[in-house]
Amino acid sequence: MPLPAPRPTRTCLVTGASSGIGAELARELVRRGLGVTLVARRADRLHRLAAELASDGGARVEVLPADLSDAEERAALPAAVADLGLTVDVLVNNAGFSTSGPVHRADRARELELVRTDVEAVVDLCTLFVAGMTSRRQGAVLNVASTAAFLPLPRQASYGAAKAFVLSYTHALRAEVASTGVTVAALCPGPVDTEFAAVAGLDGDQLVGKLPRVLFVSPAAVARAGIDGLAEGRAAVIPGVLNRAGAVASALAPPSLVARILHATRHDGDR
Ligand SMILES: NC(=O)c1ccc[n+]([C@@H]2O[C@H](COP(=O)([O-])OP(=O)(O)OC[C@H]3O[C@@H](n4cnc5c(N)ncnc54)[C@H](OP(=O)(O)O)[C@@H]3O)[C@@H](O)[C@H]2O)c1
Repeated sequence: MPLPAPRPTRTCLVTGASSGIGAELARELVRRGLGVTLVARRADRLHRLAAELASDGGARVEVLPADLSDAEERAALPAAVADLGLTVDVLVNNAGFSTSGPVHRADRARELELVRTDVEAVVDLCTLFVAGMTSRRQGAVLNVASTAAFLPLPRQASYGAAKAFVLSYTHALRAEVASTGVTVAALCPGPVDTEFAAVAGLDGDQLVGKLPRVLFVSPAAVARAGIDGLAEGRAAVIPGVLNRAGAVASALAPPSLVARILHATRHDGDR
């Protein structure tokens, strides 16, 4: 199913567009002639990207700064989009982050912020915007999960579980709207060089530090694969052949075994 055609009053709402994969997803949509509305907390970054996109190809770009972990800020988004005279044709739920470290040492507030951003915001924005798409019988949703969705992830327990939630939710939503003209896909990247590792405090992580560079895919290539997959009507997109093989292997292995092996690989004496 193709992406909705570019129209002056229609937009692609891209969350987490101030950095990394989200900024590249916005660039990719603009490259395909679509207008974008950029959402994240860092308004200065969003305005810089908007200026770049507008000057490169004269794209229609708006900036709506919002903290997606905040239910009230999320609830205000449909009215803010309508005030701009726009309708959301494409929803890209990309904003997210990970924590790192064992649960028994976790910062409770940060863990709950992760669940609100990586899980609750995805559910909320789909609930807020998909009904309009199904009634117009046109639209597309791309939810950014991760290859972490396929395996339990000790020292990133809430992140792995959040992404498993996003993947499962996306498959279910896709089935529900299959006959409504709305297309839904999950983008499941493996490792990508962005601000993600620094935000998560994973810079010195034993497993992440040992990941072969061949597994890394550039943010631009991830974004291109995600938008291509959405346009082709794919259910899930895993950029990189080795990441695809790893996801299949992880999904087939017993979760308790995978968790024990990963924990042994990553633990740093703080058990
Ligand atoms: N990098 C990887 O290895 C990798 C692998 C698989 C999946 N992913 C997923 O890809 C997505 C993008 O990550 P990235 O790698 O591009 O990381 P990134 O460079 O750190 O970007 C994360 C984006 O999420 C936004 N964000 C975080 N918390 C937010 C909040 N409360 N409200 C609004 N926006 C928020 C950030 O914007 P502000 O800080 O300006 O709000 C930023 O734009 C995430 O869902 C991540 O889980 C990443």
